[in-house]
Amino acid sequence: MHEHYNLKIEKLNNYYIKIFAIVSVVIFLSLSFSIYNEYQHRKDSVLEHAKNSFIKDLMFRKWVSSHGGVYVFPTKETPPNPYLKDIENRDLVTTDGQRLTLMNPAYTLRELMNKFEGMYGAKGHITSLNLLNPNNKPSEWEKKALKKFEDNGELDYYEFLTKDNKEYIYYMHALITKKSCLKCHGKQGYKVGDVRGGISINIPMDKYNNNFYKTVKKIVFIYIIFYFLSILGLYYTYRTLKESIITQERLYVENQRKEEIMLAQSRNAAMGEMISMIAHQWRQPISVIAMWANNIEADVDMEELNEDDCKDYASNILAQTQHLSKTIDDFKNFFRPDKSKEDILIKDVMEDCLSVVEKSLQNNNIKIIKNYDNSTELNIYSRELLQVYINIIKNAKEALLENGVKDAQIVIDIYENKDSVITEIKDNALGIKDDVIVKIFDPYFTTKGVKSGTGLGLYMSKTIIEKHLNGEIEVENIDNGSCFRIIIPKV
Ligand code: HEC
Repeated sequence: MHEHYNLKIEKLNNYYIKIFAIVSVVIFLSLSFSIYNEYQHRKDSVLEHAKNSFIKDLMFRKWVSSHGGVYVFPTKETPPNPYLKDIENRDLVTTDGQRLTLMNPAYTLRELMNKFEGMYGAKGHITSLNLLNPNNKPSEWEKKALKKFEDNGELDYYEFLTKDNKEYIYYMHALITKKSCLKCHGKQGYKVGDVRGGISINIPMDKYNNNFYKTVKKIVFIYIIFYFLSILGLYYTYRTLKESIITQERLYVENQRKEEIMLAQSRNAAMGEMISMIAHQWRQPISVIAMWANNIEADVDMEELNEDDCKDYASNILAQTQHLSKTIDDFKNFFRPDKSKEDILIKDVMEDCLSVVEKSLQNNNIKIIKNYDNSTELNIYSRELLQVYINIIKNAKEALLENGVKDAQIVIDIYENKDSVITEIKDNALGIKDDVIVKIFDPYFTTKGVKSGTGLGLYMSKTIIEKHLNGEIEVENIDNGSCFRIIIPKV
């Protein structure tokens, strides 16, 4: 696990915490809004109930009023109304001797309200601030409402009040004096348009409250389910995303490991190459040493060995061993691990490379032509670049030998432009076949059979140039040969 991965997971976590918070807040707000709405609705519907109740009373009153009152048979509950005693024809006798008495609108309504109270779920009361019938006297609340009608010209008024732990709506509607009312109420000093009184209506809220609580319960239940599903959905997408990050990470690590393995393989191949080059370099001095040893042996056999010859042989052998040890030093330097970047001229890297391979090229009659035009030092891992150079030159050498090219040569151009230093390594080994050239940088691609190569050389060269040196490597066929171009940026 690397930092990149932890960062990704952390980002994902933060992102989901935010989404979770937003979803929670939105759902909570929406729930609150729904409950508030339901609460308002409870109020509206009970008010509607009260208003309907009033309209029903009013209709009934109007009907009685429109007939100027109605005549009924007087009973114990409905005796002739003493407050109508001044009205003419309050009491009638029919032709067959039946007695009838007049009931005024308020009287009928009062009876209706008292007799059938509760059937409509509402309790009504007709009253006034200036009473004709003292039994109709207003309650404190009714007085307050009637005052409001008189003072502010409002037509109705309501409040929600709690009495004996029970909530009620108190509703009252004004009754305005009409011309028809004056017949009986004119004496009290009322004029048309005055507030004559009002009808108050009380409705207990419990039915409405119960409905409200029931609905709220339903809403909360639905919201909980909804919330739960949302969280579930969020959790699911979170897990999927997290898994995909983990998979990515696994792939990344696997790739990294593959690359490491390839790097190690190519190092091994380079090492093998190096050993064979050392062998090349050593062949000559060793045969010279052997020759001198032979000479000593022959001299001893022929009993011709003298001190001067001995010294001469020894110093020749010493010179050769020095040559051998210098070669080893060269290669040691070459093998030193590339721990830190250094400022170095690209042409010096190439010279290092040639000091190692030159011998083997000379032995095979391959000419090297160098054109250097490079003065800018680059800050790079020079050993890696060296490895790439060796690889390409070694490939060129093999191609030249394989094709038996006469006047075999490798031309090395190093030059620079504004942004980069460019190395071109050209051979005259007749070029690379079209089907090969397109795959030349693929891993494990080789034209040489298992024995001589891993097929990683050019793949690793490309990896090194692109990933470690930020550069580019390309290949093209030129006149009877091929050209590898390595472009390394100056910064
Ligand atoms: C037929 C005569 C008559 C007519 C018409 C009449 N009233 Fe009345 N009204 C009475 C009597 C009598 C009472 C008191 C006795 C009672 O409670 O029955 C009364 C009581 C009332 C009360 C109850 C308060 C109180 O003073 O006791 C109000 C409010 C009222 N009338 C409003 C009106 C209005 C508004 C009109 C016109 C739309 C009207 N009345 C028309 C006879 C009449």
